[in-house]
Amino acid sequence: MDDLPEHVRRNRVQWDVWADEYVAPGERSWASDEPRWGIWGVPESELHLLPDDLAGKDAIELGCGTGYVSAWLARRGARVTGLDNSPRQLETARRLQAEHGLDFPLILGFAEQVPLPDASFDLVISEYGAAIWADPYQWIPEAARLLRPGGELIFLGNSVLLMLTVPDLEEDGPATDRLIRPQFGMHRFEWSDEDSVEFHLSHGDMIRLLVANGFDVTDLVEIRAPEGAQTRWTNISTPEWARDWPSEEVWKARKR
Ligand SMILES: C[S@@+](CC[C@H](N)C(=O)[O-])C[C@H]1O[C@@H](n2cnc3c(N)ncnc32)[C@H](O)[C@@H]1O
Repeated sequence: MDDLPEHVRRNRVQWDVWADEYVAPGERSWASDEPRWGIWGVPESELHLLPDDLAGKDAIELGCGTGYVSAWLARRGARVTGLDNSPRQLETARRLQAEHGLDFPLILGFAEQVPLPDASFDLVISEYGAAIWADPYQWIPEAARLLRPGGELIFLGNSVLLMLTVPDLEEDGPATDRLIRPQFGMHRFEWSDEDSVEFHLSHGDMIRLLVANGFDVTDLVEIRAPEGAQTRWTNISTPEWARDWPSEEVWKARKR
């Protein structure tokens, strides 16, 4: 533990505590054949985040948690590897693998330094894993290193607008219609009531980072909550807010 980077160590401790809360949602997502993305559960048939043909593709999920995104990829024929920084999240992932009769490698590690060879994957994916918990200035270069030329990077996390409008303290409620923190300089976020560290970049900084690491940006999907959608993340966004503004965004990029 002592040799881990400071934010990786803190996030490992925090995620091992939070892991219990992710068991039931993980079980539900493993049981669903159709991927449902993000806090609004938007179906894959509407978002089209995944490549059409995953059969025989090598894929890695960075920050796989309970492993349901990896399971969705494996069921579509991908040779998938899940990597996560929390031993307790991986315990749940292993149990669910056994219950669903799926077996793929699960690695304890962090997305900033992945113990796997260069150019060994066709797809790197993250849904609220590395996408928000790993330092983009370290994990985006790692994703570029892991991908083969033509390989795809797909990651989903909170939108920039949400990060500028959501109050620091949970008791102050979800995102508002006011900008409460600056966009310039956004990178590392720490909340007053949690001992965890998140990372979020402005769109300009993210585009520059991706391009500098050999990616062409192919899409930036701003997710609109479906009409009538509900979420357990009421501390982050109301459904009404997320009908007017995107609370989540998905970056898609291709390695040159
Ligand atoms: C919200 S979960 C993501 C998994 C799943 N898609 C979900 O939304 O429940 C976040 C995961 O990121 C992992 N994580 C945090 N920092 C990480 C890092 N630097 N590298 C890899 N995984 C990390 C945590 O351990 C946690 O399991």
